[in-house]
Amino acid sequence: MCGIVGYAGNKDTISVLLHGLEKLEYRGYDSAGIAYLENGEIKVSKCKGRLINLQEKLADRHTENIGTGIGHTRWATHGEPNDINSHPHLSKNNQFCIVHNGIIENYISLRDNLIREGYHFESNTDSEVITHLLHFNYNGEMIETILKTINQLEGSYALAIICKDHDDKVFCVRKESPLIVGSGTGENFIASDIPAILKYTREIFIMEDNEIAIIDKDNITFFNSFGSSISKNEVLVTWDEKASEKGGFEHFMLKEIHEEPESIRKTINPRIKNNHIVLEGITLEKPKKIAIVACGTAYHAGVVGKYLIEKLLRIPVEVDIASEFRYREPIIDEDTLTIIISQSGETIDTLFALRKAREKGSRILSIVNVVGSSIARESDDVLYTWAGPEIAVASTKAYSTQLSAIYLITLMMYEGKDKELLISQLKDIPDQISKVIKDMSAIQKASSLLFGSKSIFFIGRGLDYALSMEGSLKLKEISYIHSEAYAGGELKHGTIALIEEGTPVICSLTQHDLIDKMISNIREVKARGAYVMVITQESHCEQVKEVADMIVMIPEVNPVFSPVIAVVPMQLFAYFCSVEKGNDVDKPRNLAKSVTVE
Ligand code: G6P
Repeated sequence: MCGIVGYAGNKDTISVLLHGLEKLEYRGYDSAGIAYLENGEIKVSKCKGRLINLQEKLADRHTENIGTGIGHTRWATHGEPNDINSHPHLSKNNQFCIVHNGIIENYISLRDNLIREGYHFESNTDSEVITHLLHFNYNGEMIETILKTINQLEGSYALAIICKDHDDKVFCVRKESPLIVGSGTGENFIASDIPAILKYTREIFIMEDNEIAIIDKDNITFFNSFGSSISKNEVLVTWDEKASEKGGFEHFMLKEIHEEPESIRKTINPRIKNNHIVLEGITLEKPKKIAIVACGTAYHAGVVGKYLIEKLLRIPVEVDIASEFRYREPIIDEDTLTIIISQSGETIDTLFALRKAREKGSRILSIVNVVGSSIARESDDVLYTWAGPEIAVASTKAYSTQLSAIYLITLMMYEGKDKELLISQLKDIPDQISKVIKDMSAIQKASSLLFGSKSIFFIGRGLDYALSMEGSLKLKEISYIHSEAYAGGELKHGTIALIEEGTPVICSLTQHDLIDKMISNIREVKARGAYVMVITQESHCEQVKEVADMIVMIPEVNPVFSPVIAVVPMQLFAYFCSVEKGNDVDKPRNLAKSVTVE
């Protein structure tokens, strides 16, 4: 969601800000803007739509004497995406200017009070209230003013602020929305995420809730919520800018699918020693119950986890969508292990679900990709997925590494006789995925035949059903084709009414003990005219041939591991459909990579 950058230094501020925003595009946005101090005046440039519009608008802007600025990509929550609602927002007398990520829940009452005090509002955003409130509270002392202002705000925020009276400085503060500070030589930065500043520095500070940072070109100073100066530890980012570039691929999504084998290797290999699973500092004893909580793709990884853990460990598992978990009364206690799954580690619903589980006394083990993210920091134990930066909004390598982490956790607690065999089979997964990626022709053909469909259904049973949910989500996200995933046996209770002549049905068929049942379900849809594509293994080919219009083959693997392999053709199918339709594959409409608002 919204992306923030801030800069203080001698480089061309406009270029640094635009570069940062470009690197934050992956988060999802519908407008963009920057503000900078020039000869003591704040100048704002912003507009609706893609960043290129802003870049064109600023193409011939002179940039001498500019040393401080802030930038923003906006994902609309309050007020439609238009030029006026875009950030930055100026205060009265153009004295303050802010960019905001998050939602101010009490903005209506704050706005009404400010209007009574003579303030005029231009936009429909909740954010504009902040800039006027800063102006209203201003007493010449920035830290006092910021503290007074944030004490009046309810909701979440990452804020970057510039002020006419302090033209060499950028101020920032956060609560529940991510923010980092980057330390350079003769220049310093603020950003929502690391890629925005990686071109300039790998030395960063992670802001905590209600901490304030002030940067100028030579200094970074931090303050706590009482206004006292504090020191913070610097973190060195271990990946470089190349990791967040396309590296010759047409889209980040395709690059990231190709990175799946390596990401899985990085996630599992260091944790398997002499065919035993060793998770850094994590000792797991079988809990009485497990709760898995996540959103989106991470939730789908959790659904696979439920099938897997219940099958292999015989522990009851509840899996919840974080936004539901937060507001229901989940029955969990100190005997429950809560597993939180999140690529970004910043998804607001997931973070609050974590806090709810903790309140109930549950131990928190999180599976997170972004080191030092809020979820990682608030968990008792963290199992990092080493997927590296995932830029495409549609998650691919994050999902397969999340599954890998779930396999590690499950197999660590597993006591069956075939434990060592399963561990060695887990190690083979990256090679199996490489085989799938090596020959994409069948899946490309399927996409070229089916990309024009109005609706595509995914069906499966057991782990194949769990996997189908992810296949269906991928397709919706980037190809904009309506899609549903259904449990094979549940089709006849409603959804089968939608199957008509030519309706595509994609069936994942990898669970040996459920093959016959699935074949019957395929016959049911075939009888209603469906066009059936089956993703399966050689061993089921004979049976499948009779009912399938098209077969996509995946390598022969133990059925417990098939989701992590069979998801790859589904990801590729969604990818090629999106390409065929000419969509913006990496930045699908209306979606955000990091969902930092409720
Ligand atoms: C957004 C992204 C999805 C992601 C979900 C959860 O919807 O577009 O790809 O699965 O958020 O994000 P998380 O970072 O918590 O895994």
